[in-house]
Formats: sequence, structure tokens, C-alpha cells
Amino acid sequence: MVPLKRRKLVCSDTGNTGTDSRGQTKFPQVVLFLLERKMGTSRRAFLSQLGRRKGFQVEELFSERVTHVICENNSGDEVRAWLDSQSGGRAAAHLLDISWYTESMRALHPVEILDRHKLQEPQISESEVAVFSVPSYACQRRTALDNYNTTLTEALSILAENAELSEEEGRGVAFRRAAAVLKALPSPVTSVSQLRGLPCLGDHSLRVIRDILENGASSEAESTKESERYKALKVLTGIFGVGSKTADRWIRDGIHDLHQLRASEQTLNRSQQAGLEHYDDINQPVTKAEADAIRGIVEKAVNSVLPGAEIVLTGGFRRGKVMGHDVDFLITHPQEGREVGLMSKVVSWLESQDLLLYQKTTRNSYLESKDGPGRPASNMDRFERCLSIFKLSKKEEPGAENLKTVTENKLGRHDHGLWRAVRVDLVVSPISQFAFALLGWTGSKLFERELRRWAGHERGMSLSSHALYDNNQSRYLRASSEEEIFTHLGLDYIPPSERNA
Ligand code: CTP
Ligand code: MN
Ligand code: MN
Repeated sequence: MVPLKRRKLVCSDTGNTGTDSRGQTKFPQVVLFLLERKMGTSRRAFLSQLGRRKGFQVEELFSERVTHVICENNSGDEVRAWLDSQSGGRAAAHLLDISWYTESMRALHPVEILDRHKLQEPQISESEVAVFSVPSYACQRRTALDNYNTTLTEALSILAENAELSEEEGRGVAFRRAAAVLKALPSPVTSVSQLRGLPCLGDHSLRVIRDILENGASSEAESTKESERYKALKVLTGIFGVGSKTADRWIRDGIHDLHQLRASEQTLNRSQQAGLEHYDDINQPVTKAEADAIRGIVEKAVNSVLPGAEIVLTGGFRRGKVMGHDVDFLITHPQEGREVGLMSKVVSWLESQDLLLYQKTTRNSYLESKDGPGRPASNMDRFERCLSIFKLSKKEEPGAENLKTVTENKLGRHDHGLWRAVRVDLVVSPISQFAFALLGWTGSKLFERELRRWAGHERGMSLSSHALYDNNQSRYLRASSEEEIFTHLGLDYIPPSERNA
């Protein structure tokens, strides 16, 4: 016990603490502080004296001891801002209206704190919530694989996909851009007011976002997913070699699924026939392990026809995805010109090993014009390339022995279970264009589109998977690495794992 005399001394030292006639603090748990702001100096002095006389501890100065801050005519936000400036936001005092104080004076003890005594809580949608800010172009942003707003981005992606399948490219890009902005946000969106000023969010996308924030789901995305047309377009374009135009024509002919297609008189081209035959395999995602197995095969093929050639895994797997719809490779040789004719040799080698179920090779048709690329620079590149379906053996994988029995797959065909079909894209680039090809084939598709848009609109340059042309200087800008291309474009370098826009 602190001797009474000493305690008295402490009290009279500060001169602020309410004590009863014997110098005792009546309510030791309650330490009050009256905010002078808007109350005024003299009223504050009067009310403080009144409180102390009634046995309350009323502090002259704010400190961490204060348990109750009493305010008059201040908003909660104003007081919180002031409190933050005093205590670095650490204080956990009650923020109370003067009514709590006067009622407590009358009652001669601290009255229970009711809602009406509390200063208004901050509006979630307003000042307290961070308003996001991101640069306009996806190529100016870092977009990792995971994001904090997958419910929103998945709904917008469905709408984008539906627009693309319906040949409405503009709408598709608008939804893709909106989804990409949300993918780049540092935390979940809780209110549309946080999105004020963000680029690429049009009325339609905002409506979808609001619907999800208020109702948990987007009715438009849900009804799209359930619509017969969307389902039919998905199934039919799932056939390798079938684009949205063909699918649309078939749907107008009453074909909505694979059974109807098989029963129909439609003539299929070579890729569509292969696509239909290997439908289940091709629509089953490719794993990273399978991609690595394919890489091993491609390396073996390339090294046996052109030793010294280099092979890089591109596409989604280079961006760190663990699943893909295909496997993409870029092949080059450090000596310019040695790569010419490489693809047909690689394909022959693969065929001789019975590793290809389908392939279509296109020759390199790229010619660098002295006057720069035609305008608009074509999105399609003209490298020697091979769109193929690999026959990937399952025998390397654990548990493969159990698959040796003949099984019947969903299409009612017999599948020996020893291999699966995998879509593989091979591209050959001369070393002088390699950096551009690598950048162009790493994706994502939206990231690529945004790079080209940035180059054209912001820099007066034309970017393709072959070259970068500066229209201001009327000359090509060379590069031997992706970093150099970003530098030419005046952009910060974004590594592949952060190009998942
Ligand atoms: N690409 C291209 N020209 C094509 C097809 C694709 O330049 N005719 C590029 C795309 O721009 C993309 C990359 O190749 O950057 C990979 O395309 P794709 O395999 O379709 O997509 P991924 O991102 O790899 O996604 P997934 O995992 O589904 O394969
Ligand atoms: Mn791919
Ligand atoms: Mn591909």
C-alpha cells in the first residue's frame, strides 16, 4: 500500500484527479479527458472542475492512461484523426459524446455506455476504407497468379469469354481489362466506392461487381454459365480446330454437342477430326509434370537434329501456372540462320518415334521491311511453327501399371490407358528475334495486347513477336533480352510470374 500521505501528494501534484473528501479516487478504472476542440477552453475548464468535484478523474493532458475521451460537436472521424495524431493510432479509449458525461455527473457515477453515447463509427464505404489506385495499362502493373478478388475476376472472365465466343471482341477486351485491374489490387474489394477512379471499369463491369458485393454472386454471370448457347459454344470450341465462327454455324444448324456433331453430315477438317478424336484428353488440363515430360521429349528431338539449339518453355507454364491447356515451346540456335529448316526435322524425328497424333507446320513468312511493319502491326506472328497433339506415354508416371487394362472412356471409345493426348505448340525463332518471340509467347494474352497498345499509343512504336519499330525515328530497336525491350518501351521490367493479367 502506498501511504495515504504520499498518494495525496501525487494527487495534488497533478491537481487533476478527482478524489473524494478523503482524497480517494472514486472510479479508479475511469480516466476522462475532455477534448477542447469545439468545446472551448472555458467550458472545458468548467466541466472538468465539475467532474473532479464529483469524484471523477479528469486529466488535463491526453495520455495512454485515458480511458474515455469526451467530445462535443465533433464527428467520429475528426476525433479519430486527432487521436491518431496524439497516439499514433494506438489508443483504445472510448470516444463519447458530452451526453455521457453530463448523465454521469447527474448519476454521480459513470453510466453505462449506450450506442447513442458513442461517436459515430466510420462509414465502411467512405473515408476509412482504402481507395485503390493502379496504372491504366496491364503492362505497367505486376499481376501475380493469385489474386484477392477471385469471385469478381471469375465472373468478369465468364462474361469476357462469352463475348469472345459470340464474336464481340470489343466487349470481351473490356471485361478482360476490368478483370485484370481487379487482379492487381492488394486486398479484397469490400465496397464499390473503393474503385472510384480506377481505370478500365466501365458501367457494365461495375454493375457486375456491385451485384456480387451486394448479393454474393453475379446474376448475369450465373445465367450466362447456365445458358444453352454458352454451354454449346464451350463444348464445340473445346474441339481443337473449332473456333467461335464454326461453332456458331453448327449451333444454327441445331448441333449443340458432340453426339449431334458426330451424327451430323458436317465435314470436319484434319485438325477438327483429331480434336474430336482426342476430345477428352485435350480438355483435361495439362499438369506441370506432364509439361516437363514433354520438354524432355522436345529436347531430345531438337538435340538429335540440331545440337546446340536452345529450348524454352513459354506460355502459361513460364508464368508459373501449374496447369495449362497446352504446352508452349520456343526454339532457337545461338548462331543466326542455323535454325532454318529445323521444324520439319524435329517433326520427322517425333513422327519416327510415334510421338505425334497430329501436327500442322507453317513456314516462316516474316520479312523485315525497311519501311517498318505495316500498320497496324499484325498480332499474328509469322514464325515457323507447329501446332501439334503429342502422344504422351503414361508409363513414366507412378501407378501407370494399373492403367494397362483396357478402359472405356466417356466417348465410348476404347482407350488403352497407356498414353494421353496433349496439345503442344512449337515455335522456331532466329536468335536476332528471340527476345521479342520470348516476350510475345509468354503471355498472358491480355498482357501482350496491353504491351502492343502501350507501344503504339504511348510511345509511337510497333511491337510484335519479331521486332520493335520506332515510328518517330523510323528505325528498328534491337534487343537481346526481354529487359531491353521493356527499357525501349519506357516500362519497368515485369518478370513472367507477374504477367498474369
Ligand atoms: N500466341 C501467339 N499467337 C498465337 C497463339 C498464341 O502469339 N496464334 C501467344 C499468346 O499471345 C500467348 C502465348 O502465345 O502469349 C501462349 O498462348 P496460349 O498457349 O494460348 O495461352 P497460355 O497463356 O499458355 O495459357 P494456357 O495455360 O491455357 O495454355
Ligand atoms: Mn499455353
Ligand atoms: Mn499455346
